[in-house]
Amino acid sequence: MKGPLDGKVAIVTGGSRGIGAEIGARLAEDGAAVVVSGRDADRLQRAVRDLEARGGAALGIAADAASREDCERLVNAARQQFGRIDILVNNAGITHDELLIRMKDEDWDRVIEVNLRGAFLMTRAVSKSMVRQKRGGRIINITSTAGAMGNAGQTNYSAAKAGLIGFTKASARELAHWSILVNAVAPGLIETDMTAPLSAAAREALLAQIALKRSGTAREVAEMVRFLAGDGATYITGQVFHVNGGLYM
Ligand code: NAI
Repeated sequence: MKGPLDGKVAIVTGGSRGIGAEIGARLAEDGAAVVVSGRDADRLQRAVRDLEARGGAALGIAADAASREDCERLVNAARQQFGRIDILVNNAGITHDELLIRMKDEDWDRVIEVNLRGAFLMTRAVSKSMVRQKRGGRIINITSTAGAMGNAGQTNYSAAKAGLIGFTKASARELAHWSILVNAVAPGLIETDMTAPLSAAAREALLAQIALKRSGTAREVAEMVRFLAGDGATYITGQVFHVNGGLYM
């Protein structure tokens, strides 16, 4: 059966688990070949087997999203294996939560490095390829509600994710000339390893603010990414799509 993304090649950073793994799976279901990166080689191999079980071609590359060398190696490996890159999802992200007055320099720097600099490094490397290919492309940045409304205890993360929104808009303007569309998806509270450590009290307080009164699933985020990667989204660029059950409107 022919899928809407047959023949397309996607890179998903941090695609070995959580939201990234689900995005990879959703793109594979639509027929894309998927390259996933992450830091844990064993987990990556499991993610690749899972993608292959869905009938798709897949490749796992251990790479630190904050390292220029690693990003360039990842992009080269994808091109070597599949010959092209059509879709980039900048999903790799971390949190190091602390109150502002207690936050260490290292916690600030690392969160900005992985969430924001990582997206810049990957976008630069991939868009060079897309420009040469002359077939356009899609870049989707996973930001957060925290980047739009701020989150106490997450000044570093909120700044990185707000930065990613500015980066999305500026790169959308630059890359439009080559029909490369750049958008951001901002999830709210999604059940993954990242949110598992939330205390019951913090979870309750968040749920009370969500209009739908429940957390979201990685699949619900992946559906939005899949739409932005597909043929239904040809006139959309520089936008932020919130997938948050009405937490922030
Ligand atoms: P997760 O912690 O389950 O997965 C994060 C992924 O990023 C993992 O695969 C990890 O290996 C990878 N990663 C982390 N640092 C990396 C690095 N230096 N280099 C390469 N890969 C790295 O988290 P989750 O929830 O799946 O998060 C995915 C994205 O969604 C992140 O950007 C996160 O900020 C964002 N997000 C998550 C929300 C949630 O409620 N879970 C809400 C809003 C945004």
